[in-house]
Amino acid sequence: MCSTMRALVPLLSLFLLGGQAQHGSDWTYSEGALDEAHWPQHYPACGGQRQSPINLQRTKVRYNPALKGLKLTGYETQEGEFPMVNNGHTVQISLPSTMRMTAADGTVYIAQQMHFHWGGASSKIRGSEHTVDGIRHVIEIHVVHYNSKYKSYETAQDAPDGLAVLAAFVEVKDYPENTYYSSFISHLANIKYPGQTTTLTGLDIRDMLPKNLQHYYSYDGSLTTPPCTENVHWFVLADFVKLSRTQVWKLENSLLDHHNKTIQNDYRRTQPLNHRVVESNFPNQGKGHLASREKTKSKSKAHVNTPPLGSRQPRSLSSNTVKTHKDNVLGTRRAF
Ligand SMILES: *[C@@H]1O[C@H](CO)[C@@H](O)[C@H](O)[C@H]1NC(C)=O
Repeated sequence: MCSTMRALVPLLSLFLLGGQAQHGSDWTYSEGALDEAHWPQHYPACGGQRQSPINLQRTKVRYNPALKGLKLTGYETQEGEFPMVNNGHTVQISLPSTMRMTAADGTVYIAQQMHFHWGGASSKIRGSEHTVDGIRHVIEIHVVHYNSKYKSYETAQDAPDGLAVLAAFVEVKDYPENTYYSSFISHLANIKYPGQTTTLTGLDIRDMLPKNLQHYYSYDGSLTTPPCTENVHWFVLADFVKLSRTQVWKLENSLLDHHNKTIQNDYRRTQPLNHRVVESNFPNQGKGHLASREKTKSKSKAHVNTPPLGSRQPRSLSSNTVKTHKDNVLGTRRAF
């Protein structure tokens, strides 16, 4: 009897966890029973062979001059009201279906939502999901689309050719305020708690993206959050969005998760490339003969270990004093 019970308890808790997981809110990046190392136990695709994000290693990227630029339509000023929600993991803006992206192969994708991944848990931590030559950027923007051959996002999300994400990195230096982000950032204060929604009046996603939309990296991968479905065609832009330090600080410190903890470092570790090839539609400037390539390599390593001085907003006292388990976990995580 007793041993039967003992055998049942883990089984039962697995059931309970599975049940909670279906609500999609209890997985985390670094804390609790369902941190990213345990995602595959509840979401098997997360343990697959073509996962995202990845490190974009420029010397291994295949330049494909035949790869056309992306065609974005309806990305410019849109009148109307657009819901923006704190979903406990990030801030997400619902996008109108008039926003479309045509990929190099002619596939038309319809925009669904846009969200962000950031760092902020200590002064040196950046929070992009993809890295370039091992370098993590400050923020990563994801504009999620579904293949227009499907009726809705709900149908497309399970189809093998269902999704495409347009991704971009944010760079922070001594830049002035990026006014294209002002409305978005001021609305963060309205959605401090998970489940809260606010409304953006008018939207211009084109202006929230980098100036150069032509040059990108492309590969086949997955969603970077559970259920990690392996049906995402990734387009990672080479150019950056520029935000001021204050704007980055606000994104990193405005939202709380389901445990009332500030949402920070909401990025997944990079995943093995396995047999995939990353293509780009622009030549890699870093590609030279071996000697110069080695130089670039050691340079970027040094950059990883010592981020530029003063590259981040100084932390407030309160966030500096909250040294938690998370900081320790993240300490090891930074050695990617
Ligand atoms: C989070 O804080 C709000 C406001 O103080 C409170 O109503 C809520 O119960 C808290 N939630 C948790 C999980 O502690």
